[in-house]
Amino acid sequence: MADTVQQIKDRLSIVDVISQYVKLERSGQNFRARCPFHAERTPSFFVSPERGTYHCFGCNLGGDIFSFVEQIEGLDFKGALKVLAEKAGVPLVYERPEKKDERDRLFELLETATIFYTSRLSEPAKKYLKERGLDDEMIRLFRLGFAGEAWSDASEYFREKKFSDKEIIDAGLAKKGDRGLIDKFRNRIMFPIADSAGRVVGFSGRIFGENVSPEAPKYLNSPETPLFRKSRILYGFDKAKQAMRKHSCAVLVEGQMDLLASHQAGWANTVAVSGTAFTPEHGALIRRMTDNLVIALDPDEAGFKAAARAARAALQGGLNVKVAQLPTGLDPADLIQKEGKDAWSKTIRESKDIIVFLLDVLESKSKDKDAFRRAVETIVLPFLSDVPSPIARESYVREIAARLSVSESAVSEALAKMPTAPEGASSDAAPPEATRLSDRARQALSILLWQEAQKKPEIDVEKYKQAFAEAVGKEEFDALRALPESEQEALRFSAERIYGKSSGFKQEVETLLQVIIREKLSEKLAAATTALKEAERAGNDGEAAVHMSVVKLLTARIAQLHTSV
Ligand code: UTP
Ligand code: MN
Repeated sequence: MADTVQQIKDRLSIVDVISQYVKLERSGQNFRARCPFHAERTPSFFVSPERGTYHCFGCNLGGDIFSFVEQIEGLDFKGALKVLAEKAGVPLVYERPEKKDERDRLFELLETATIFYTSRLSEPAKKYLKERGLDDEMIRLFRLGFAGEAWSDASEYFREKKFSDKEIIDAGLAKKGDRGLIDKFRNRIMFPIADSAGRVVGFSGRIFGENVSPEAPKYLNSPETPLFRKSRILYGFDKAKQAMRKHSCAVLVEGQMDLLASHQAGWANTVAVSGTAFTPEHGALIRRMTDNLVIALDPDEAGFKAAARAARAALQGGLNVKVAQLPTGLDPADLIQKEGKDAWSKTIRESKDIIVFLLDVLESKSKDKDAFRRAVETIVLPFLSDVPSPIARESYVREIAARLSVSESAVSEALAKMPTAPEGASSDAAPPEATRLSDRARQALSILLWQEAQKKPEIDVEKYKQAFAEAVGKEEFDALRALPESEQEALRFSAERIYGKSSGFKQEVETLLQVIIREKLSEKLAAATTALKEAERAGNDGEAAVHMSVVKLLTARIAQLHTSV
């Protein structure tokens, strides 16, 4: 395992891995970007190609390619290992295949199921999908399949592949019947749903077949399982990731067919909620790729309510939200099929900012200005209180005030009465100023750690280390050297950031050590002065004389420092 990890690290550069997710810009020896893990305007996310690490000064996340992929893809270590091994072309050898853990088994079972269903995609099912406008490429890319009429064909197949009944049930593919397992999905066109790394975690099945019960729901989804967490999985996300980043925008639709049609129409940045409510977690997932979301849910009453709920969750997640207005009676799939992909593109491009959209709808529905005002207060203001950015909020307040012909302060006042959304970790916090001695010592340590890691250090590291240890004292020096590795790495980045492009680096290092020495001496001087006063008050002349000489000595040394700096 350790070997595999090293092999992967040797083959992949951290810059290549990370730049698939964020736009990196060179910054001295490092690269920098806006952090993909928290909202920020000024980039505080740094990547060191030399050390193969990254660190964000805003949210304090850091690590190597593995932890990066874990965090950005929402994977566990094994998941990240799989993703990176594939990228690096390093084969993963399981030491003891019989010892694979439960999750791995479920992943394998769902993959087996996907292969099973795709192999059964019948001609009539294919014909139906084609009639709905999908081409072969889409059918193949999204691995669409079919579950037939038989009670337990799929379960039998999984058993042959050595999966246990418990595993088949746990994966949500069958339930227990009187005489063995009964397949969960029957008479259905199967849409595999993947996690952000592209591993199938569940299915949605659309009713299709000759003998379907009229009571059967149109779509049936896998139940919640250890792998399929509906509040965190978006249909199509794995295929939409790159496009979301590229277009700086994501499109949210409701159903599987809508998603496929949208992808085929050239909007590969589309994701779907597929039968559950859009959650703030879904919002966070999208936020890893882009800050902008266009919501394109069905134009009916239910769709409108769903869009409103989705918008609030998305706003809380820090996304900028727009709403696409579909022609009445057409969902995205219908629109694309009936009016073509240009009509769809136009709909997305003409989407309105959520607040403007709400104001327009309410204004047209309200019988007079008073009713409009009340509607804005009860319906629009709650949305506004979900917006985490005060700047964005303020511009909305302006917009609303103008539309209602009231003062901005009246709107702000009404808004202030709303319960506010939690702020989240969205501050553009800079690393704290080094003020106290221990902070200065940390700063000095950061320089040491950085220079030590450098192939060609700019200063004499040995000499610096000695001077540094002398300045802070052995005890503190040892304590500093014993900091956890993650913290040391963060310090390396901070030194690199502060001093990396500084031409007067050597001079600054010198000054820093002097300041530390001076502060150490001042600290001692303060202690000696206190001791002196106490001895004097106690009338202990002998002791007072000793303290006095220490005070004099320290004062002289400090004076000397002043002149030499
Ligand atoms: P719709 O009923 O609007 O269906 O449900 P649709 O997407 O237009 O379906 P097609 O075009 O006839 O194939 C919208 C979405 O809600 C979920 C599905 O994800 C569906 O795509 N849904 C719907 C369910 O989960 N269960 C259902 O019974 C119905
Ligand atoms: Mn439809």
